Amino acid sequence: MSGNGTNLQRIAEYFANNPDVEIVNVVCNNPQAYAIERAKNLGIPVRMVGKTEFNTPEFTQEMADLNLDLIVLAGFLWKVPASLIQAYPRKIVNIHPALLPNYGGKGFYGEHVHEAVVAAKEPFSGITIHYVNEVYDSGEIILQAYVTLSEDETPDSLAAKIHKLEQAYFPVTIQQLLFWS
Ligand code: GAR
Repeated sequence: MSGNGTNLQRIAEYFANNPDVEIVNVVCNNPQAYAIERAKNLGIPVRMVGKTEFNTPEFTQEMADLNLDLIVLAGFLWKVPASLIQAYPRKIVNIHPALLPNYGGKGFYGEHVHEAVVAAKEPFSGITIHYVNEVYDSGEIILQAYVTLSEDETPDSLAAKIHKLEQAYFPVTIQQLLFWS
């Protein structure tokens, strides 16, 4: 978690009445992230982590000891260390605000993605939910959903469309991965 936390909020609310789902921790690297405030209001413990610690075997071990069913990256921008990926094979998922493999990789995050898509006058954009592997934004795709760009689309208007898709599809995809796969 690095940012606003709208996906966190939506996911937490979606599962709030499901006794079989617990969000154990919100791991956050950005002390300014509004997601921290949201997590506190939702009653979810926050684990702050710096970049050096994030890449240590001790941090991977701490996460492994939690024995999680799923790790969800929602606006988390750091590369996940190989040790953590190996501790949770096919159990770490990310949401990306574009149709991968296009507009992915280092530097393509948040509004930068939408600016590039609008500048290129793409007819479509969308979201990609994918497993996390050792290369940015290139793990196996689980789900994509599309939106059409209008002629007068701006990065902001596109961001609003993308957020709606994220809100609609991310929680239900998590549910699918947890219970129906
Ligand atoms: C989301 O739009 C997500 O797709 C994007 O960051 C935003 C976080 O919003 N992720 C990336 O760009 C990853 N490369 P949120 O903090 O409000 O959930």
